[in-house]
Amino acid sequence: MSQLLEKIDKGHLPRHIAIIMDGNGRWAKEHGQDRLYGHFHGVESVRNIVEGCAELGIGYLTLYAFSTENWDRPQYEVVGLMELLVNTIRKEAEVLHRNNIRLHVIGDLNMLPDYARQELKEALDMTAANTGLNLIMALSYSGRWELLNAVKNIAYEVKSGKLAVEAIDQHTLQRFLCTSDFPDPELMIRTSGEFRISNFLLYQLAYAELYFTNVRWPDFRKENLYEAILDYQSRERRFGKTSEQIVT
Ligand code: IPE
Ligand code: IPE
Ligand code: MG
Repeated sequence: MSQLLEKIDKGHLPRHIAIIMDGNGRWAKEHGQDRLYGHFHGVESVRNIVEGCAELGIGYLTLYAFSTENWDRPQYEVVGLMELLVNTIRKEAEVLHRNNIRLHVIGDLNMLPDYARQELKEALDMTAANTGLNLIMALSYSGRWELLNAVKNIAYEVKSGKLAVEAIDQHTLQRFLCTSDFPDPELMIRTSGEFRISNFLLYQLAYAELYFTNVRWPDFRKENLYEAILDYQSRERRFGKTSEQIVT
């Protein structure tokens, strides 16, 4: 068994891990290849990390696969990524299902081509009753899009008389986010050396522990995940209180 895995305290795991899977393009370039080659290899990392999280008994894993802003990339990359996405979901849905993994998608799905939406729906339906790891794919997602959407929908409820302005609290807002069914991530990992959030889960990451690694996403494997979890377990989460107030 992996030495790092043995060191992990199984009683103190993050319930929800969120990952910005970055660096596919640079990885490809370093291998003298086209960017799409990097995305293609990134799928292997997804498989490996999903498996690693399921083995550990992590409850929720959110993967940032495509941002609202990524639509502005060159057309060939956008089309290539969409095809890769649909093919991967078609191939992997059965595997997820067999492993009791439930797939969820967050993001502006209206932006996706019809065939992609259809393929997604089938995978979502197939795994809907599963009770193991919740795998949440952020697709055509951005935190600002999500918050804007929530504000609009809250406004509709107020306008129709279903909700009083005075009754709006944090729970109301939570209810209107695409992540209303999930706890907030305790650990956020970003690969490939960039120190930014890039419009990911802006509201939900309020108190997440952030972990950055230089490893490119196509090279990221379970061992790297274990390192991130061990780092997380070494931190003191204070939530605004003093160290003395934290009872361990
Ligand atoms: C992350 O890798 C995957 C997506 C954003 C879809 P990038 O494609 O951003 O790779 P780099 O950052 O250019 O290396
Ligand atoms: C963030 O990566 C989005 C995903 C990983 C899907 P980007 O590569 O798009 O972010 P920036 O452009 O470096 O901020
Ligand atoms: Mg990038």
